[in-house]
Amino acid sequence: MSYPAERPRRLRRTSALRGLVAETRLHPADLIQPLFVREGIDEPRPIVCMPGQVQHTRDSVRKAAAAAVRAGVGGLLIFGIPAAKDPDGRGAWAPDGITQLAIADVAAEVGDATVVIGDINLDEYTQHGHVGILGPDGDVDNDATLRAYARVAEAQAAAGAHVVAPSGMMDGQVGAIRRALDAAGHERVPILAYAAKYDSAFYGPFRDAVESRLVGTRSTHQQDPANLRESLREVLLDVEEGADMVMVKPAGLYLDVVRRVADAVHVPVVAYQVSGEYAAIEAAAANGWLVRDRAIVESLTAIRRAGAGSVVTYWATEVAERLR
Ligand code: PBG
Repeated sequence: MSYPAERPRRLRRTSALRGLVAETRLHPADLIQPLFVREGIDEPRPIVCMPGQVQHTRDSVRKAAAAAVRAGVGGLLIFGIPAAKDPDGRGAWAPDGITQLAIADVAAEVGDATVVIGDINLDEYTQHGHVGILGPDGDVDNDATLRAYARVAEAQAAAGAHVVAPSGMMDGQVGAIRRALDAAGHERVPILAYAAKYDSAFYGPFRDAVESRLVGTRSTHQQDPANLRESLREVLLDVEEGADMVMVKPAGLYLDVVRRVADAVHVPVVAYQVSGEYAAIEAAAANGWLVRDRAIVESLTAIRRAGAGSVVTYWATEVAERLR
């Protein structure tokens, strides 16, 4: 018998063979595109540290949403950036707050052709950049913030959000939002819980995108990157409180978490490839240090392979167009 007896390379010889045996595929419907909408601007504004991404006007976001639908993107995650911030982030639940207006505009544009998701948080709206209402000690007051989130959830659902996604990592946020939505007649609106969300340096470019200057730290509510088992606790709690889908965030540095979560629960698992992951690849590619398109597809494939059913990524529309 010839040596070697086993020849794994046989299945790699042609692109057709490799395609036949591929275990993971990317599909446009598995990709969720975040969109930023800035109140009070006439032209889209480029986001410097996220090359290719912009703060949209109310008009340009409709066009971006329509393009995403044409590419077959599975969902749109809407972030509103108000012209003025205040201490309690009240604009986050005002019926004419920019997030609500943008959700309504986008929902009217896309109908049921894709899923419009609202991010529930106060950080885009507060002067201090924190995710909620501050207590006297300067830390985020958990239960006061839950009351605010309930109002944001209602406002976003009333504006036409198909799904709401609480991202503040307050204890009990999913249950509080579920009760508020049900009481307001929005029992059919699902909750995508940012369940395992880490205190990550990789959100840096996002803070620029939403003009948020955080004073202080997120480490009293977002998770310590050192921990894995804690994520399982968070995810199981959220499912118990009524989460319809759970999210792990960031994605690429937390593939072990994605895998463990996917194995632990029976609800869909979403992973968020965050602004810093995007910026790192764009910056390296701009320097010619890695091949951009391959790096993007590889990063997304790895996240799907780890067990995420869908991926939030700033490249969603671009990649979906290429897959078509
Ligand atoms: C909260 C929120 C943040 C991100 C998504 N939702 C910021 C934060 O929690 O600090 C970060 C996303 C990214 O970095 O791409 N509104």
